[in-house]
Amino acid sequence: MNTNVQTSGIKSGLEGIPAAETALSHVVGAAGELILCGAHLKDFAAAHSFESAAALFWGTAQDEAPMAEEQVRAGLGAARAAAFARLGALLPSFEGLSLSEALRLGLAAVPEEDAPHIAVTGAIPVILAAAARAKEGKAPLAPDASLPHAADFLRMLRGEPASEAEVTALTTYLVTVMDHGMNASTFTARVIASTGAGLTWAALGGFAALTGPLHGGAPEPVLNMLEEVGTPARAESWVAGELEKGERLMGFGHRIYKVRDPRADVLKAALERLSPSGEKLALARAVEEAALAALKRHKPDRPLETNVEFYTAMLLDGLALPRAGFTPVFAMGRVVGWTAHAMEQQRTGRLIRPASLYVGRKPVREEWR
Ligand code: COA
Repeated sequence: MNTNVQTSGIKSGLEGIPAAETALSHVVGAAGELILCGAHLKDFAAAHSFESAAALFWGTAQDEAPMAEEQVRAGLGAARAAAFARLGALLPSFEGLSLSEALRLGLAAVPEEDAPHIAVTGAIPVILAAAARAKEGKAPLAPDASLPHAADFLRMLRGEPASEAEVTALTTYLVTVMDHGMNASTFTARVIASTGAGLTWAALGGFAALTGPLHGGAPEPVLNMLEEVGTPARAESWVAGELEKGERLMGFGHRIYKVRDPRADVLKAALERLSPSGEKLALARAVEEAALAALKRHKPDRPLETNVEFYTAMLLDGLALPRAGFTPVFAMGRVVGWTAHAMEQQRTGRLIRPASLYVGRKPVREEWR
């Protein structure tokens, strides 16, 4: 199927069509820039904790001053505790489900109460950690409300505190992926919010859209790809073989960026700080180099560069997170964007309801039969 075909004057995939006004983020595809609440990604990621970044997104969405970082930290701590209290009834149903399916189920159980954006954001690490531990036959661990969000997630998952370097790396990741213009899951969240449905519904819909391999489901395949390549020496021939078979290289290409995705650089730097001399890093560098050269030859007219998923895969693997949990961990950061966009959309009070072009058969008039 050629996905670039434009049928009946419709821009396929709604490419380049603005669907909302937002003060939350801006992707400048031609320049490879991402602006988050008025700051360039690199500066934003260096300046913010998860909590202060979330406060800024939620404040901007409501056109209000951001809550204090400590207030968000306390709110998220309470939300994690509330999510843990709901776990008992849910845990038996996690059996046989993937981590994404368990998160889908857990998110569906979050009540639409006061501050639903905080409730749903706090719930994700609790559900994910519990579901991952259940797969290893381990009981869930209660959250520690005094810890930062990323630190508590790693502790609940592993059963022991993570190092400062690991918490910093995960925080950088979560803040880096918090929002990204009108991506598919954010658009989904805004459509849901525009109907007047609440923020937890918008977040659940956003997560559903995120799970596809063309959006947030790519990091796991990236890691599988690196494993298949095996050694830097095999990178060139493996990449060429895949493109010959008509396969897409996971972690490359982007709808908006026509140059390198700026998130890839921030995550690569975070990975280099976390494991500066790792063998995997050398393999990733070799695959990236081979892929970029091969893609240039393969599609000379279509710039295909490294996207966020490539180094996401490496970073999350470096944190020893379970591979099947990569998409839910993405959701742990992006949920702030979904809920902020949903609030911003609700403020417009306008239902999103585009038109379609009918290309089906016309009814035949009775007298022509
Ligand atoms: N590897 C090989 N070829 C690729 C490619 C990739 N990663 N990404 C795009 N292409 C090719 C397509 O096959 C298409 O070729 P065609 O014109 O012969 O059909 C052409 O480049 C244009 O691709 P298109 O699907 O129109 O681009 P898009 O803007 O719709 O897609 C992605 C963007 C991200 C969906 C796409 O680049 C992709 O599938 N990447 C791999 C998955 C991935 O990394 N996803 C995470 C995104 S953050």
